[in-house]
Amino acid sequence: MLRTALLAAAQSDRCRAVVAGMPLTRQLVARFVAGNDAAHAIATASALAVDREVTLDHLGESTVDVERADATVDAYTHLLLLLGRTGLTSRVEISVKLSAIGGALAKDGKKIALANARRICEAASSVGTTVTVDMEDHTTTDQTLETVRELRVDFPWVGAVLQAYLRRTEQDCRELAGQGSRVRLCKGAYREPPSVAYQRKSEVDLAYVRCLRILLAGEGYPMVATHDPRLVAITEELAGDRAFEFQMLYGIRPTEQDRIAARGHRMRVYVPYGNQWYPYFMRRLAERPANLAFFLRSLATKH
Ligand code: FDA
Repeated sequence: MLRTALLAAAQSDRCRAVVAGMPLTRQLVARFVAGNDAAHAIATASALAVDREVTLDHLGESTVDVERADATVDAYTHLLLLLGRTGLTSRVEISVKLSAIGGALAKDGKKIALANARRICEAASSVGTTVTVDMEDHTTTDQTLETVRELRVDFPWVGAVLQAYLRRTEQDCRELAGQGSRVRLCKGAYREPPSVAYQRKSEVDLAYVRCLRILLAGEGYPMVATHDPRLVAITEELAGDRAFEFQMLYGIRPTEQDRIAARGHRMRVYVPYGNQWYPYFMRRLAERPANLAFFLRSLATKH
């Protein structure tokens, strides 16, 4: 119930104003977000890239005007330019939400997002790195997968994301398990109705394992995005010497990230940056009530 309330608050402008105005919010946000601009993002990526891979995400989603979508594309191309100068592009890729680059626009959203995603892929290609297209709520799944398919005609390395909590995802895993197909498997972070998504954690975890088996048995490149220790152990057991990578979010279970990298696995950290942190931050609170308790406790003790 708390998760549902926090995910609803993630979409509310009124809650955004209240949360953003709280004095200690920035401190907690800094645990999950690498700073406001590309320079902060690159500095964080450089520090992590010593023994990890990284994916950088310019925060922002559900953009409702073309100018903002264009500005987001510019932010990505600028980031890629800077990244190209660091020599880190073999270890650092980028993640993009289609709704940040026009996918949510009422008129021609799909077409605009596809054209913008192409611009970002071209910029990534010119500096020698890759792009993964994040997955948003279930109303966007078909459009996102279709866009990934279209991008892959010219950029076969584009990564897709599948969410194990959706009932459809086993079938999507079968369709996306072909040769070279980079697929990030996560549990799913949005508030979804029972008609399309499993609701109980145990059901989601079982679905995750079924999806994982399909991806590991396929010919693609599974990117196992979870902080769940049981799923990490199951992946290690099922994968054998097959190529795959683990992925976790910046600021979450960093010691476990170290341990996984030390065991010789590829460990990629998803690093968001930028000032549009609110919905991302609220989804992180929703995932773990202890984060919310920490947040409220710090408010109560210091103010
Ligand atoms: P689960 O939520 O069961 O957590 C397992 C354990 O991990 C917890 O017990 C706790 O110890 C720790 N943990 C998890 N979340 C935490 C938090 N916020 N704070 C502190 N500890 C926490 N979703 C989506 O819908 N679309 C997407 O494109 C992506 N992309 C993505 C990329 C990467 C690299 C990751 C790791 C995750 C995503 N997600 C996502 C988010 C994903 O769907 C999911 O919401 C979170 O990963 C939490 O699920 P877990 O698998 O970690 O399990």
